[in-house]
Amino acid sequence: MKLANKVALITGAGSGMGRVASLLFAQEGARIGAIDIDEKAAQETARMIESAGGKAIAVKADVSKSADAQAMVAATIEKLGGLNIMYNNAGIEGKAEPIVKLADEDFDRVIAINLRGVWLGMKHAIPHMIANGGGAIVNTASIAGLVGLRNSSAYCAAKAGVIAITKVAALEYGRYNIRVNAICPGAIDTPMVSRIQGGGTMSERAVNRISTLGRIGKPDEIAKMALFLASDDASFATGAPFIVDGGWTIG
Ligand SMILES: NC(=O)c1ccc[n+]([C@@H]2O[C@H](COP(=O)([O-])OP(=O)(O)OC[C@H]3O[C@@H](n4cnc5c(N)ncnc54)[C@H](O)[C@@H]3O)[C@@H](O)[C@H]2O)c1
Repeated sequence: MKLANKVALITGAGSGMGRVASLLFAQEGARIGAIDIDEKAAQETARMIESAGGKAIAVKADVSKSADAQAMVAATIEKLGGLNIMYNNAGIEGKAEPIVKLADEDFDRVIAINLRGVWLGMKHAIPHMIANGGGAIVNTASIAGLVGLRNSSAYCAAKAGVIAITKVAALEYGRYNIRVNAICPGAIDTPMVSRIQGGGTMSERAVNRISTLGRIGKPDEIAKMALFLASDDASFATGAPFIVDGGWTIG
């Protein structure tokens, strides 16, 4: 097992990639702090882990709030006995509008959850990791942090910001044996993408435009990258954005 005796805190654990990663990390031996603003969804993930023989707690937290971020870290340490891995995955898609039409508060909300939330998670977890002799942090960015997407100014800015703070954190805390990396998924089949599609399925033409493999990705194809980065298999990887996009950004 790749994460035996580890404790992993995963945000956005109630849905999509966060839930699938929570189950995979638990299967690999980690005890899971399943964090979500949707308490019932986090509880369901924890229940799924426990019924598969793992150990998990569910914690309701809004990652954009400093007090909540502090409390989710404290609860995980108190109830699970430590914190070795943090996967800052919670995020929202925000409203799809061109810059001149996007409301100020909609811009702020996406930045607050997708960027400030990652920063707050690191801010509150890193002191414990330093005290513990190290840790691994995985942040969810997106290919939207690498290329521009129409109608997604706040989302692209937040995700580019996640890549930036991942690099800064890796520089600042490498000497404490803390590795910090980011994942840049392409289009992955989760409730978020189905909301963006308005519940419908993507046309073949649209799929071929965003993936040279002719399909969108599955959540476990991101969870496996997160597992790699969280585990000792990635012992020399830090400060890097890992693209898993089916070829969307090749050219
Ligand atoms: N699905 C994709 O194609 C795709 C591509 C690139 C990046 N991403 C990113 O991957 C991450 C996971 O996305 P997903 O597709 O699994 O989405 P999802 O909507 O299925 O899951 C996101 C989870 O985050 C939770 N959440 C939202 N706001 C929160 C907050 N303020 N505090 C705590 N939890 C909160 C939601 O309740 C939900 O359970 C996000 O950061 C997203 O931006 C998704």
